[in-house]
Amino acid sequence: MSDALKNELLSQVEAAADLAALEEVRVTALGKKGRITGLMKELGGLSPDERRERGQALNVLKDEIASAIDARKAELARAHLEARLEAERIDVTLPVRPEAEGRIHPISQTIDEMVAIFAEMGFTVAEGPDVEDDFHNFTALNFPPGHPARDMHDTFYLPDAPSENGADKKMLLRTHTSPVQVRTMLNKKPPIRIIAPGRTYRSDYDMTHTPMFHQIEGLVIDEATNMGHLKGCLIEFCRAFFDVDDLPLRFRPSFFPFTEPSAEVDIGCSRKGGELKLGNHGDWLEILGCGMVHPNVLEACGIDSTRYQGFAFGMGIERVAMLKYGIPDLRTFFEADLRWLKHYGFVPLDVPSMAQGLTR
Ligand code: PHE
Repeated sequence: MSDALKNELLSQVEAAADLAALEEVRVTALGKKGRITGLMKELGGLSPDERRERGQALNVLKDEIASAIDARKAELARAHLEARLEAERIDVTLPVRPEAEGRIHPISQTIDEMVAIFAEMGFTVAEGPDVEDDFHNFTALNFPPGHPARDMHDTFYLPDAPSENGADKKMLLRTHTSPVQVRTMLNKKPPIRIIAPGRTYRSDYDMTHTPMFHQIEGLVIDEATNMGHLKGCLIEFCRAFFDVDDLPLRFRPSFFPFTEPSAEVDIGCSRKGGELKLGNHGDWLEILGCGMVHPNVLEACGIDSTRYQGFAFGMGIERVAMLKYGIPDLRTFFEADLRWLKHYGFVPLDVPSMAQGLTR
């Protein structure tokens, strides 16, 4: 009896073409109502000697079938994996699919370009939150409470939240990226060399202002940093960014509470015939603010101002992107118009780098 049953079950195991069929075989043989199980149940009616003999034989049969099922299971799994690998084979030597539709937004592209240039000069990227407190956005940057420069920032304030210790915890949307200077200086020791690109917010909306826009901040703190380093750094950056080798820069005295001396930087241009052209053409266009970090700022951030000094700069990203790529209207940046993106956007794999060129 046993041999016939064994051969029948083994050939069923062998014939199972997939895991579901194999499971069916297992249930018919070893399940609660399976054939071997059924034979086991009959043992009770036998004499002790018969029961021992037959019981042993059934146990051997049961183990044999179970291990045949396990072996078949492994075999099926291996075959399944092989079939899948074959079906999903990818030819990595194929060219990139030309029909890729997505585009990189000009703001992202411009940030990537700026990061590529400053990375080459040894800057690392730092970040801070969009929702800031008064201390990081103003007070630590030497805007004392009530200072008129605060009013110039058209700040969006958040509704008052109860503060833990009564301290001035007024929350706001950061009006510039300069609070990242404060966060960086509070968190690490000089030498510091960071850039901080990101979103900024001011309550203002017209042809040249949107309530949300982007800036990039730069901060260098070391023991012998001077205005010459600031100038060299920005001249180098502007020439690389606009890809004009002899682009002239003009540093005009200005005022920011957190830098002393402060300057605004103009780049050379021409507006002849209503067309803007960058280069040494006698006319000027303002593009950024900068200066030597004010000793009050260093001290507010726990840095010894008798030992360290440094420079900072800040620039509007939309503004320089418009200049570089001839985008006429600021507001179109945020309209998410696919036709606009297709026209002004960048192919995803054209990653800007100093070695391969910024834009191709
Ligand atoms: N935070 C200034 C602004 O938003 C720009 C700036 C940054 C000026 C750093 C000097 C130094 O106008």
